[in-house]
Amino acid sequence: MSVAGINVLVDETRARMAQAEPQAGKAPLLSVRGVSAYYGSIRALKGVDVDVHEGEIVALIGANGAGKSTLMMTIFGQPQAREGTITFAGQDITKLPTHEIARLNLAQSPEGRRIFSRMTVRENLQMGAAVNGGRHFAEDLERMCTLFPRLAERIDQRGGTMSGGEQQMLAIARALMSRPRLLMLDEPSLGLAPLVVKQIFSAVRDLNAREGLTVFIVEQNAYHALKLAHRGYVMVNGAVTMSGTGQALLDDPQVKAAYLEGGSH
Ligand SMILES: Nc1ncnc2c1ncn2[C@@H]1O[C@H](COP(=O)(O)OP(=O)(O)OP(=O)(O)O)[C@@H](O)[C@H]1O
Ligand SMILES: [Mg+2]
Repeated sequence: MSVAGINVLVDETRARMAQAEPQAGKAPLLSVRGVSAYYGSIRALKGVDVDVHEGEIVALIGANGAGKSTLMMTIFGQPQAREGTITFAGQDITKLPTHEIARLNLAQSPEGRRIFSRMTVRENLQMGAAVNGGRHFAEDLERMCTLFPRLAERIDQRGGTMSGGEQQMLAIARALMSRPRLLMLDEPSLGLAPLVVKQIFSAVRDLNAREGLTVFIVEQNAYHALKLAHRGYVMVNGAVTMSGTGQALLDDPQVKAAYLEGGSH
């Protein structure tokens, strides 16, 4: 067979593999490998492995104090991983300072929202857009107002006077204004009424389905998070103890007993 013929065969095989397994051969967008992090002498993360592939929604669930927020913060370099490697879009970001990580294409809506409370909704969104130089501001403002009509109604209201649910929507919208490749959400449902939680989760599902946005979500609300996610991880005492598809974890007796029974869904 000629070299050209072999190349055609190789290409066909690759195409078939890609069809059978969408992620086959593709490096994860975010890869956390053997990561440990410390607060003083306390080891808050113990050799954590987590992958997030392009186009996926991945959930991380676990009890209070398990280390979920610490993992999110460690990805952002604060605290820095003392062992292991974190790569994003093929770049090793393990030792990058936080301000340089913030310039990459990953955006975070941290636990407790942390919007700019004295700035208006519009100004908060401007701050989010500033990360990528404020290009597409008008267009993205429009998109956010369609996604969260409540923000459109309150565009000139100060962030700090908005309700908890509105502030959460604003925090997510601000993160989206930078047009991230990866959106990381820490407990978006915290303290919110079930209806608002539904609205926020359905906005995230739409963004993923329509625009292919990749999402890494940390949640106490295991039921909603695993329903939303393609895949999930369970964290106990700073270590990942289980992983699988969202549905497999929802059906798992141990997950049911620890995180779903008597839950708020
Ligand atoms: N700045 C800090 N200094 C010292 N210890 C910390 C610090 N931040 C978190 N910890 C500890 O690290 C552990 C993991 O905390 P973390 O906030 O990551 O948990 P979590 O899984 O996000 O919990 P929750 O669901 O309550 O938000 C906890 O024992 C916590 O007390
Ligand atoms: Mg937390």
